[in-house]
Amino acid sequence: MRKGAKPLFSFLRQSEKRDLAPFLTFLRKERMMSTQGLAWWQQTIAYEVYPKSFLDTRGQGTGTLAGITAKLDHLASLGVGALWLTPCYKSPMVDNGYDVQDYLQIDPSFGTMDDMDELIAQGRERGIRVVMDLVFNHTSDQCAWFVESRASRTNPKADWYIWRDAKSDGSAPTNWRSIFGGSAWEWCEERGQYYLHTFAKQQPDLNWENPQVREALYDISNYWVNKGVGGFRIDAITYIKKPPVFEDGPADGEDGLYPVHAATANQPGILDYLHEFKRAVRDGHDIFMVGEANGVAASELDQWVGANGVFDMLFEFSHMHVPMGAEEIWCRPATWTLTDLKRVLAQSQAATAHNGWYPAFFENHDQPRSTVNFFHDDGPLASKAKVLGAVLLTTRGTPFLYQGEELGYGNASWKRIEDFNDVQTRAQYEFALGEGLSEAAALAACVRFSRDNARTPLQWDDSPHAGFSTAEPWLRVHDDYATCNVAAQEADPDSPLLWYRALAALRAARPELVAGDWQELLADDERILAFERTLEGARCVTLANFSGEEATYDTSLVAGLVPLAASLGEPQAGTLRPLEAVVWGN
Ligand code: GLC
Repeated sequence: MRKGAKPLFSFLRQSEKRDLAPFLTFLRKERMMSTQGLAWWQQTIAYEVYPKSFLDTRGQGTGTLAGITAKLDHLASLGVGALWLTPCYKSPMVDNGYDVQDYLQIDPSFGTMDDMDELIAQGRERGIRVVMDLVFNHTSDQCAWFVESRASRTNPKADWYIWRDAKSDGSAPTNWRSIFGGSAWEWCEERGQYYLHTFAKQQPDLNWENPQVREALYDISNYWVNKGVGGFRIDAITYIKKPPVFEDGPADGEDGLYPVHAATANQPGILDYLHEFKRAVRDGHDIFMVGEANGVAASELDQWVGANGVFDMLFEFSHMHVPMGAEEIWCRPATWTLTDLKRVLAQSQAATAHNGWYPAFFENHDQPRSTVNFFHDDGPLASKAKVLGAVLLTTRGTPFLYQGEELGYGNASWKRIEDFNDVQTRAQYEFALGEGLSEAAALAACVRFSRDNARTPLQWDDSPHAGFSTAEPWLRVHDDYATCNVAAQEADPDSPLLWYRALAALRAARPELVAGDWQELLADDERILAFERTLEGARCVTLANFSGEEATYDTSLVAGLVPLAASLGEPQAGTLRPLEAVVWGN
């Protein structure tokens, strides 16, 4: 047994878990400076904030930047060193900020540029760097660039977006379906042409072929680099390069349309643009870039990340597609087993083992809550959250937590389509009806998969509106807020929140969990997801039972190890209780 293992376990005993913040801050700052040949962002934990739903300090029903600054200690207690903010630029908010009107201004609903500067500065004090979301595939239709572009076919920005003539019968140039549903083309009277929108019609696609467009985007990025941000999450990046020829595809639904994703994602030549982007923005700065890359397979990762790639990390969605289905059409979910999920997770690990770095995640603002009956069998939400937390915080890569994940939220159980706000949810509902589903079945698909599930206001305490705001929140607070909230979980030694904090501390204290190799164990087991992390004689084994039944395994897997963290109390070697996770180590 390795010296030091026992004291660490006792260090993590429930009674002591509450006071980890100073220790984590110390470690985070240490790590920022160096060690093990890894960059700061490889050694830290990232946390995604959806500002509109985090904390409202102005009594207006929507979150503010000052609210995030006020809660930085909550992030620090989770070992967070990178804070990814979804877009808070000036926006008409059709897609909650992913429709950017002005990349150099803060939307007044969130506060001011001074508030942003304060957040960046206060974050730095705690070893937390702000990461901005760059939405560069498209802008808002209210963006000055588009307003100019749409005015005529000859203005200086006429070619900044994707304009095409109608077909001879006046219909759209192709039969592509936008990601949110309906045609991906919108008619513009002034120009007498259609423009392409991969997402909502208020989100026209930029024309990356135009060097002026690319220059403008790089300048915007560098404005934020100069403000001292720690990096960027790059939105929907696989769609920036369009195919050389625009043509119809075979319809795959009753609407006669073909998915724009299939027609345009990850086109040859896209990496040339992104290498240029990297040279103009990333090179020479101590920042990281993580791309959102739906459509890039694990087998292609080596061209996208690492020394020869374009990003430091890439959110690829192969594991999310296991339960969701690759096309993400909610009324057509996939059927799958745990080994399907394990196979794709192992592929992503293999692809980033020697090249690039893996951003591990189970939740973000586009996914339903991971504790739903989605990745694992049914059972108590807290147990399910702890199982996923154990995997996320001990795997190889930078863990990306999403706000509220540390509390083990469930999905919102709304009963009417009117309760949903999300532009995609409404489109998926209409699509499902068009496919012949009943209203009840279409609603059930939305209840299960809607992005609003992740966007309900964060639950801070049991006061009205969950302590999120003194005003009526923009989106209904989850019904369970009185019992599931930060304050309640801080007082409960068995809560998911304290489990996440303990795991964050464990990760910070055990270099093999950060820098060690990753090896899958029990690859064919349908109940247990297991892997080991090893570094210079140190070894940790994570065993997570995703099933609602007891699961057994050969005790030789943990021979010579002691339990470092156990989700359901004192563990037993060789057996996992339903939805139990244990991390062993030497
Ligand atoms: C990305 C964002 C999503 C947004 C879309 C359009 O997928 O994560 O929230 O709706 O891009 O910008």
